[in-house]
Amino acid sequence: MKFAEITGWGKCVPPAIMTNNDLATFLETSDEWIRSRTGIEERRVSAVGTSTMAAVAARNALAAADLDPLEIDLIIVGTCTADEIIPNVASKVQQEIGAKNAAAFDLNAACSSFFYGMHFATSSIRIGMHKKVLIIGAERLTRILDWTKRESAVLFGDGAGAMVLEASDNEVGLLSSKVSCDADARDVLSLDFGMSFDRYNFDGAMPFNFVGQEIFKRAVKGMSAAVDGVFQETGLSVDDIDVLIPHQANKRLIDFLAKMCKVPEAKTMVNIQKYGNTSSATLPIAYTEALETGMVKPGDKIISAVFGGGLTCGAGLIKW
Ligand code: ACO
Repeated sequence: MKFAEITGWGKCVPPAIMTNNDLATFLETSDEWIRSRTGIEERRVSAVGTSTMAAVAARNALAAADLDPLEIDLIIVGTCTADEIIPNVASKVQQEIGAKNAAAFDLNAACSSFFYGMHFATSSIRIGMHKKVLIIGAERLTRILDWTKRESAVLFGDGAGAMVLEASDNEVGLLSSKVSCDADARDVLSLDFGMSFDRYNFDGAMPFNFVGQEIFKRAVKGMSAAVDGVFQETGLSVDDIDVLIPHQANKRLIDFLAKMCKVPEAKTMVNIQKYGNTSSATLPIAYTEALETGMVKPGDKIISAVFGGGLTCGAGLIKW
């Protein structure tokens, strides 16, 4: 049985920055409220579509892996903000980077999409179905936000991140993972666009509904169960973890997870202050920055935990 070694990583963060103070010029909010409740200081706003950001992140990850795009046999794009419903973002990435030999599909598990992608790509590599997989998390959330709603407009941003997984004999990569869905909580986080475009006389703003405190409670429960499941499966405990790289939705949630996993601040990856919640892109962007800054060292054991609409959750142990 092979392992799925992470051989490449990359990101695309749009250059345009919108600060909390920028938001406060047209919304009844403040830098103090946003920082203290969420940890966010600024976010990026993209002038280009999700697939363009996805392709840039993919190219960077392929360069880091020193891989010819023709060697990639599967592309998975985690996104809930595809440029079009059909065809998918993954086919656009295939075209842009020239990965002609790859199967390509999108996956929507909301903010958990990238992690779900890692979970299934790893299984696929482990059983020999695929050898070199490109996983991307890419979102252009600012395109669909209702900019008159302060409760949601302040939370999100745009960006993309990517990873290359390759079949390997080294016992590294995602060694254990759990994914789940708490469908009783489908309604606590929703974006009801359906298939009816004229229903809302689409002008770019969608009815984003969420119940923040309920999500918080359910996310904590779901991620704790997933982390416990990983510890049970691997026989490891919190004392064995070197680095925590979680979904970046709220700094208070990240602090809670760090406490639960007994990971000190210096070993907890936090970049929500720069980008806000970029949904499926938070995890690969966070991995890329943790690697670029040397926060993760060879041999480190990393724990990741995610949650998103559905309510989807997941956690995994990655050996670097
Ligand atoms: N600026 C100023 N005041 C605000 C803002 C804002 N941007 N947004 C809401 N408020 C006000 C509310 O109107 C409310 O006022 P009231 O007490 O007079 O009614 C007050 O602040 C408190 O609002 P709450 O929604 O109770 O604030 P809370 O402390 O729960 O924080 C938050 C909200 C940050 C969303 C939090 O619940 C949270 O992080 N939840 C989990 C993550 C989440 O929901 N993320 C978004 C969904 S996507 C995902 O993460 C997968």
